[in-house]
Amino acid sequence: MSIATQDVFVPAAEGLADEAAMQIRSKQGKIEMSEVSVSFVKAGRRLSAVSETSLAVEPGQFVSILGPSGCGKSTLLNSVAGYITPTTGAITIDGEPVNGPGPDRGMVFQQYSLFPWKTVRQNVAFGPRMLGRSKPESIADTFISMVGLSKFSDRYPKELSGGMQQRVGIARALANYPRVLLMDEPFGALDSQTRHMMQENLLQIWSEFGTTVMFVTHDIDEAVFLSDRILVMSASPGRIIADIQVDLPRPRDPDITLDETYINLRRLCHEHIRAESLKAFEQQNA
Ligand SMILES: Nc1ncnc2c1ncn2[C@@H]1O[C@H](COP(=O)(O)OP(=O)(O)OP(=O)(O)O)[C@@H](O)[C@H]1O
Ligand SMILES: [Mg+2]
Repeated sequence: MSIATQDVFVPAAEGLADEAAMQIRSKQGKIEMSEVSVSFVKAGRRLSAVSETSLAVEPGQFVSILGPSGCGKSTLLNSVAGYITPTTGAITIDGEPVNGPGPDRGMVFQQYSLFPWKTVRQNVAFGPRMLGRSKPESIADTFISMVGLSKFSDRYPKELSGGMQQRVGIARALANYPRVLLMDEPFGALDSQTRHMMQENLLQIWSEFGTTVMFVTHDIDEAVFLSDRILVMSASPGRIIADIQVDLPRPRDPDITLDETYINLRRLCHEHIRAESLKAFEQQNA
């Protein structure tokens, strides 16, 4: 795997703490949604954001949700996270109903959401400490090393680049040993070079831990490069209009973008997204 090494980015630590890896693997989460709809009331009008969505994500799968702006991707992800209660339908993780947020689901947001007054180590140790785990700092150090930021453990978020802050965000989400990692356009605010390196780093972490990932993006290349499976959402109200298997070998190298299968998958996604983006654009301008 070719991961550039420079000050802003170092590869994930070799030989992750086996104990940590085992704990996550043993908790791999199956996500099931059954006829989930979400609507909001806005200015007295009911707006349907997600419409009757049913799906099952297998433990350890890397699934991307791809769709045009405003189609309901974040709403769907936030429903799995438990921040939004579906208007109808049900969501379960390993058969257990989602009734609100919980440490079994780690979330990484597009906007960096670290505690600015805490150091990197304190940020990552926060979850394990709240859960009453012993040696939260040592758990934090394992995950900080995994995202290649050991040298920055005592720094504050404002001293880090955007990409580094997102890696701390990933470490913080994983430090709770989640069954599911939920990511909402986590690399959307990064420049393209950093973004590519982050994608490789994420795949490396995921290949070590094999935790289920649900990854929201509107970037087709990002979805194809990262995923086992891509769920394409329609324009608002969002529903899944295509379920695309990504049969590309792993580990994935940046050169995979030259592969014929990659190019065909990209084209297929593009066709779906183009049609839906046009619809979304027309709706937003109606
Ligand atoms: N809390 C809320 N109250 C009212 N309407 C909302 C709320 N959250 C989302 N919406 C609406 O639901 C629809 C779907 O929003 P959502 O944020 O899920 O889309 P998205 O696909 O994540 O878009 P983007 O790609 O721009 O992030 C939009 O029309 C949005 O305005
Ligand atoms: Mg969104």
